[in-house]
Amino acid sequence: MITAIKGTQDILPADVGRWQRVECVARDVCERYGYTEIRTPVIEREELFAKGTGESTDIVQKEMYSFTDKGGERVTLRPEATPSMVRAFVQNALEQELPFAKLYSLGPMFRYERPQKGRYRQFHQLDVEVFGIADPALDAEVIEMASTFVEELGIKAVELVINSVGCASCRPHFNDALLTALGEQVGQLCADCQRRAATNPLRIFDCKVQADQPIIEELPHSEDYLCSPCLHHFGVVKQQLDAFGLLYRVSHRLVRGLDYYTRTTFEFLGSSLGAQNALLGGGRYDHLVKQLGGPDRPGIGFAAGLERLVLALPDGVGEAAAADAFVVAFGDASWPEARALARDLRKAGLQVLIDYEGRSAKSQMKRANRSGARRVLILGEDEIVSEKVTVKEMETGQQHKVARDEVAGLMLAVARTD
Ligand code: HAM
Repeated sequence: MITAIKGTQDILPADVGRWQRVECVARDVCERYGYTEIRTPVIEREELFAKGTGESTDIVQKEMYSFTDKGGERVTLRPEATPSMVRAFVQNALEQELPFAKLYSLGPMFRYERPQKGRYRQFHQLDVEVFGIADPALDAEVIEMASTFVEELGIKAVELVINSVGCASCRPHFNDALLTALGEQVGQLCADCQRRAATNPLRIFDCKVQADQPIIEELPHSEDYLCSPCLHHFGVVKQQLDAFGLLYRVSHRLVRGLDYYTRTTFEFLGSSLGAQNALLGGGRYDHLVKQLGGPDRPGIGFAAGLERLVLALPDGVGEAAAADAFVVAFGDASWPEARALARDLRKAGLQVLIDYEGRSAKSQMKRANRSGARRVLILGEDEIVSEKVTVKEMETGQQHKVARDEVAGLMLAVARTD
């Protein structure tokens, strides 16, 4: 047997209803907040992520599915959508039609991580990005939209964590402060952190190595090093979140594992997920569009992990609805009429099942029972002659006859009240 690749999974029929629920709420919420869908390729040039996600990130350093294609080009299965969304915005000059672009996308991402519950090598994200608006009110609106999304999925006990990582003018001071505070201790940190200290000290906060934590806990906080425009921006974001009545915790450690962030960063943490508890995360990135060859436009967005949202959904969500009816052919000669009845009901908008391979009425009834269909519609010679259908209500066992040309209308009326 050839099995699926480690860290990838089939989404099976029993689970697909939960996925559809998440995708449906995602689209609905995004569209209510003024976002339009965009779909970008899953494969991009490697340099897009090296430049966009950032050379010093774990994603680019260790986790990318990159290879040389048959034409000799270095390509990558996207590990995240943000650089692709920026590329598409720039390449298609979307700015000309959309002075501020609010875009969303749903699809698979690929990271070569160590698989565990909630962490996979192929996973799916809802990705949301806005280009062209620097107003901190937007930061709060994006966070509020994420909160509405999680709430409408019925996911409870979610914590919102926010931070500001500053901008190009105050970040260097903070990086200096980190290096000064670390001093000689750099040598005691893990190899990754020693590399981070040399390339991008902020990334030290991404460290999960237990032995490093006492040193990291003592490091300075980014909020204390913000320049006054960044401090003002963060203040307005918090004020607007307060006005929305959203509860949040400020965590100086929330620097997020990607290099492009400026100012606001945020995550929503779920309580039922164990170690991989980030349901979604995002932030502002005011230089990425320019950095990737576009106009000087600010950006902000977030991505939600669909596997994690599906795991966190309450029980019972997305369970398949029972079919409206199961058509049973009584006697061999009745099959063509039975199939025509199923066809008519399906065309009318009802969910209708029917059997195959000429099985007996008894075994069709067994299947009807097992299918959970609400009604069985029996069509035998008598019914065909009298142009009627015998309807058996599965819940009560009651049977009654209905005129053949009235079945669809009647069933639709009942389906609406069910
Ligand atoms: P991220 O924090 O790397 O951000 O990923 C966002 C979400 O994707 C995570 O909170 C998590 O729910 C899910 N996720 C990430 N890695 C995995 C994995 N290996 N398995 C399952 N789920 C995973 C980004 O990707 C940024 N592009 C977000 C963003 C958009 N920032 C601005 N705009």
